[in-house]
Amino acid sequence: KLEELLNEVKTASVSDAAQLEEFRIRFLGTKNCLKPLFSELKNVPNEDKKSVGQQINELKNAAQTVFDQFNEQLSNEANEEEKVDFSRPGEPNNIGARHPISVIRKEIIAIFERIGYGVSEGPEVEDDWHNFSALNFPEEHPARDMQDTFFVEKGDKEMALRTHTSSVQVRVMESSKPPIRTISPGRVFRNEAISARAHCFFHQVEGLFIDKDVSFADLKQTILFFAQEMFGKKTEIRLRPSYFPFTEPSAEVDVSCTICSGKGCNVCKYTGWLEILGCGMVDPSVLEAVNIDPKEYSGFAFGMGIERIAQLKYRVNDLRLYSENDVRFLKQFKSAF
Ligand code: PHE
Repeated sequence: KLEELLNEVKTASVSDAAQLEEFRIRFLGTKNCLKPLFSELKNVPNEDKKSVGQQINELKNAAQTVFDQFNEQLSNEANEEEKVDFSRPGEPNNIGARHPISVIRKEIIAIFERIGYGVSEGPEVEDDWHNFSALNFPEEHPARDMQDTFFVEKGDKEMALRTHTSSVQVRVMESSKPPIRTISPGRVFRNEAISARAHCFFHQVEGLFIDKDVSFADLKQTILFFAQEMFGKKTEIRLRPSYFPFTEPSAEVDVSCTICSGKGCNVCKYTGWLEILGCGMVDPSVLEAVNIDPKEYSGFAFGMGIERIAQLKYRVNDLRLYSENDVRFLKQFKSAF
């Protein structure tokens, strides 16, 4: 009888949880088949008691070992199945989106790179010289009020948060010789009350072209090229006379409203035109300030706000949306790249 049971334990095969449970009840449960053997032990002759007792114990241990082995094997199989279920449909990764300002900045840079412009950067905390004086803002001149400046103290020096990236162009003109063809994207700061139409910081791309015999026609053609690359081949531009201390003559540029195709809508206030940038021929006194001879060289400059361009492209009507980090806003740009 003992032999038989031992054989049964050794040759047992278990392939699922139900069979394992059957095995457990038979050999290890509260009413297992070994119990009667223990009670029969008292009928065994004295001299055999010891060895029969040992055999029953061995049987019990063997049953436990076999049970443990199958138990582990089954639970491994279950885990394995949990890890890789090849029939399961894929779960999409929740990827982020580029910020609209980054999308447009990239696009603007790409357009100007196609016509030979490089990219230059400079500090956001700027000294008076690079933000104002070199750009022909006389000291105490009201023109400085055009740009409501934040001033900060750095050691014993008064510095400004740059109000435009024209400051970067001064640095480029100081450190390199013409011909110069560069654009400077970057964050700029102005002390304005925050509303849908104004913010205390925004992003600009300013451009500078200095060479021999650069004319206003070159400027106009460059801006037209940019506008048509950005807003479509049918886009027209319109220049209006303006004033900047660092350019003469100066102009503000409007593009035809591609959203309503010139007929007028609430985006362009029913005029058919939208202002996108300021520009002009670099003032000779700016060239002199950075030791470029205005008799030999001339140039043009322009500057635009990235938020403004993004607003036209994506019809975002509130500037504050760009810096609020609202995921509902940001995730709408997933398809932009
Ligand atoms: N710096 C001007 C601004 O921030 C823009 C500009 C750049 C105008 C270059 C003319 C020429 O408003």
